[in-house]
Amino acid sequence: MRHLISINDLTQAKLLQLLAQAQGFIEHDHIRDQALLTGVTVANLFFEPSTRTHASFDLAAQKLNAHVLNLNVNNSSASKGETLTDTVLNLQAMGTDIFVVRHRDNVMQEVAQVLKPKVRLINAGEGCGEHPTQALLDLLTIQQYKPDFKSLSVAIVGDLLHSRVAHSTIAGLKLLGCRDIRLIAPSNLLPSDTHGATTYDDLTKGIKDADVVMMLRIQRERMQSGTIADDQEYIKRFQLNAKLLKLAKPDAIVMHPGPMNRGVEITDDVADGKQSVILQQVHNGVAVRMAILADREL
Ligand code: NCD
Repeated sequence: MRHLISINDLTQAKLLQLLAQAQGFIEHDHIRDQALLTGVTVANLFFEPSTRTHASFDLAAQKLNAHVLNLNVNNSSASKGETLTDTVLNLQAMGTDIFVVRHRDNVMQEVAQVLKPKVRLINAGEGCGEHPTQALLDLLTIQQYKPDFKSLSVAIVGDLLHSRVAHSTIAGLKLLGCRDIRLIAPSNLLPSDTHGATTYDDLTKGIKDADVVMMLRIQRERMQSGTIADDQEYIKRFQLNAKLLKLAKPDAIVMHPGPMNRGVEITDDVADGKQSVILQQVHNGVAVRMAILADREL
C-alpha cells in the first residue's frame, strides 16, 4: 500500500513496524537525521491552519534529506480559484514524489485519483474525517509509557463529534487491542458511531481509574452552528483540573493533540504538570512522520 489516508489502511503488524521505526529515530531526547530520502521531493499542501503537523512534516522531510515544498492556501493559486486537483497535478509535473495534504473537506480520495502510480499521498488531517499521523504519534507516546495496550483504560474527553484525531486514534487503539475506550462529552458532541467504545456524559465517572486521559479542543470552526451554547457550563462539566485528574490512576498520563485552549478543556497546572506528556507527543510527531515518509512500501 502506498498511501496513508486512513489508519485502517494499516494492518496491526504494519502499524507496530512504523512505531518501531519511529522509535528507532529517537535517541534519548534527540531525533537523529538519516538521509533516506535523498533526491525525493515532498510537497506539504496545507489548506487549513496548522502549527505542529505542518512544522513536523517539514522537519521530518528535511531530516530525511528530501527536497521540501511548502504551500498553504494563503500563498497558493487556490486563492485565485484553481481546483485542488489542478494544484496537485502542477506540483506532480514538477516532480513531487510524496504529497502531504491537509484540507477542511474530505478530499483524499479525489487527490489520490490523479496521482501517478509511484506518487504517494499522506493525509495530514481532512475535515472531520481522519488524521492518521496524529494517531500514530499518540500511539507511540502511549506505548513509551504504557506498552501493554490490551490492559489500558483510555478516556478521550471533549468534542469527539468533530475530532478527526479521535476518529483515527480510536481506530488505532482498537487495532492494537485496547478494550476499554471511554468517550466523554456532552451528548451533542458524541459521534453517532462510537466504534464500540463506552460513552459518558459525566467526566467524574468516565475518567475513574483511567491510564490515559486525552483531552480535545472544542472545534468551533468545524461546527454547523453554535452547538456549545455556554462555555462556562462546558468548563464546569468537562474541564480537566488537578482535582478531577486524581480520579484517574495515580500514574495516568495526560495527552492533548494541540492546539490547547487553556482554561477551557484543561487547566494550566494539568497542562504543564508532571503527568502531562503533551510536549512528548509533539516530539514524537517528528519521528513518526519520518517513519511514514521513509516507508516506501506503506
Ligand atoms: C488537530 C487537528 O488539526 O485535527 N491538531 C493537530 O493536528 N495536532 C486537533 C484540533 O484541531 O483540535
